[in-house]
Amino acid sequence: MWDKQHLLGLDDLSADDIAGLLDKAQHYRTTALDEDKPSQALSGRRVVLMFFENSTRTRVSFQIAGERLGAAVTALSMEASSLKKGESLLDTVRTIDSMGVDFMVVRHSSSGAPWQIADAVSASVINAGDGTHEHPTQGLLDMLTIRQHKGAIRGLRVAIVGDVLHSRVARSNLIGLTKMGASVVLVGPPTLVPESLKSLGAEISYSLDDVIHQCDVLNMLRIQRERLDGQYFPSVREYCELYRLDSARMRRARADVLVMHPGPMNRGIEITPDVADGANSVILQQVSNGVAVRMAVLDTLNAARSARCP
Ligand code: NCD
Repeated sequence: MWDKQHLLGLDDLSADDIAGLLDKAQHYRTTALDEDKPSQALSGRRVVLMFFENSTRTRVSFQIAGERLGAAVTALSMEASSLKKGESLLDTVRTIDSMGVDFMVVRHSSSGAPWQIADAVSASVINAGDGTHEHPTQGLLDMLTIRQHKGAIRGLRVAIVGDVLHSRVARSNLIGLTKMGASVVLVGPPTLVPESLKSLGAEISYSLDDVIHQCDVLNMLRIQRERLDGQYFPSVREYCELYRLDSARMRRARADVLVMHPGPMNRGIEITPDVADGANSVILQQVSNGVAVRMAVLDTLNAARSARCP
């Protein structure tokens, strides 16, 4: 059950919780974001962005979301942090917590780190991606994008294609989409699509060509070179032949298929530039929706926080 103190994973949220966040994000999408009328819902609150792993879009997106709600936002430079002097992660976060912080937005390369931090601090913790585990706001922004185009999520067939094994985006999408009534097929080479994800309700296919014509959404994942510590497929060329979304494959997809990618993209590897920039692509809309979703998350946690400690 989601206590609204932290947002750690979509696993904690019910379908109603998710629908509520998407509704609120849609409201911000059509008001605050487009009309340039910042809300003051988080005025007097302080948000600290703690990205222990590289990020561009997620970090900036949280920063803009916090600022649009009137919060003071501080982005910590973890490169220059005391962790580099040998301080433990929990000592660092407790130190920052003692300065009167309301929200900590945490990205960390270790799966589970945001949970440990949430246990150690009084701030509300938002998971901005932990290891290969969850990335709840990415899952939400992907669902918002799908809902905007397809009207509803229930009954859709969504393919998540590529390096599923290392992808927190895939896990959060799978968990969220399944709760919302979509059917999810994970597609990729056997070495990168763990069978264990069937227990979360996924179907598995090792052939994109077998399933592409059945799908309403194709969510293409980045090949995470920094996490490929072994030989997961014979060659990039073979990977491209079997799994890259290019114009030849698009001709076999439904005419109204949505093409998604969480970014950053390896153009030419998991997706070709003409498809990434083509008529079915909603990749930049995903990014815009990211700000609205993060505003909705901050606002929802803040309302619960204000009720707990006015
Ligand atoms: C993803 C991430 O960091 O998990 N990027 C993002 O947040 N949009 C996906 C990736 O790194 O491939």
